[in-house]
Amino acid sequence: MSRPLSTRRIAFIGAGRLGQTLARAFSTEGLSVVAVASRSAGSAKALAAQLPDCRAMTAAEAVAAADLIFLTVPDDGIASLAAALPWVPGQCAVHCSGATELTALAAAAAAGAQIGGFHPLQIFSDPARAIGLLAGSAVAIEVSAASQALLTDLQEVASLLQMRPLHLQPGTRAAYHGAASFAASFLLSMLDEATQVWGQIGLPPEAALQALLPLARGTLDAAAARGLAGALSGPISRGDHGVVAAHLQAFDRLGGRHGDFYRDLARRQLGLARASGRLDEAALQRLAALLESRP
Ligand SMILES: NC(=O)c1ccc[n+]([C@@H]2O[C@H](COP(=O)([O-])OP(=O)(O)OC[C@H]3O[C@@H](n4cnc5c(N)ncnc54)[C@H](OP(=O)(O)O)[C@@H]3O)[C@@H](O)[C@H]2O)c1
Repeated sequence: MSRPLSTRRIAFIGAGRLGQTLARAFSTEGLSVVAVASRSAGSAKALAAQLPDCRAMTAAEAVAAADLIFLTVPDDGIASLAAALPWVPGQCAVHCSGATELTALAAAAAAGAQIGGFHPLQIFSDPARAIGLLAGSAVAIEVSAASQALLTDLQEVASLLQMRPLHLQPGTRAAYHGAASFAASFLLSMLDEATQVWGQIGLPPEAALQALLPLARGTLDAAAARGLAGALSGPISRGDHGVVAAHLQAFDRLGGRHGDFYRDLARRQLGLARASGRLDEAALQRLAALLESRP
């Protein structure tokens, strides 16, 4: 029988953006964060001072003081840190990386610890603000085959924080995390692309961002309300061949591979247009042929 989560002694190693956010959120929800360690004593002390009955200590001391230990250090440091710590059977070691496989915690597993991943699918740039983003966000949870008690704990943590659990299969984390970039930092690349093109036709970047952000928000809101295919708008969704041809001509004139980028995205959008059921196959084929054409 595993112990109830409320009696778990929790430690965070790595008092950076995610460590600060989760440690404070856990504490707010009544979980017992007893220890914080970090590369610099100053970061650990600053975080520990914000949490009731929590002390800053070395990483080895934090592992000895706790039974559920979160490694919130940069991804590349997880395996070497896990290999250097004094795990004992019955403890749980959890990393919070999206892309890193649980094999990074092999040393903890070899010492008898249960191992798992708890990856909040959100951006934590400012811990004070990020704490409010946890509720409603997804969290990817994975545990090793021998860590079913830890799975129960992590699901309970997700529930306390009002997060939506996603369960990952071993060996899928890089694809999971890479694909999530399309919904996160690559959205910025999209806005950057639009801003660059507008810049070439005389629209200043600050005005461009202010104009494009409400459009982006409206699109996301529509996706939330109607799903991806249902939210689709624009010339491809309508089969407006002439407008797409004009876009291609304009982009090809500008050069700088803008036309290639547009063609790649538009080809992908044909799938959504097909799923929306608004266009017949002939219209879709006509658009597909246009997107293969070159000036
Ligand atoms: N930030 C996000 O948006 C986000 C989202 C989801 C998941 N994650 C994951 O969360 C983990 C941490 O990311 P982060 O953004 O919080 O990074 P971060 O802000 O750079 O913080 C990392 C912290 O780890 C500490 N650290 C580095 N090496 C250490 C070591 N060997 N021993 C002990 N402490 C060490 C650093 O210490 P000092 O400050 O003491 O120098 C720093 O405070 C990563 O696995 C990341 O993939 C991050």
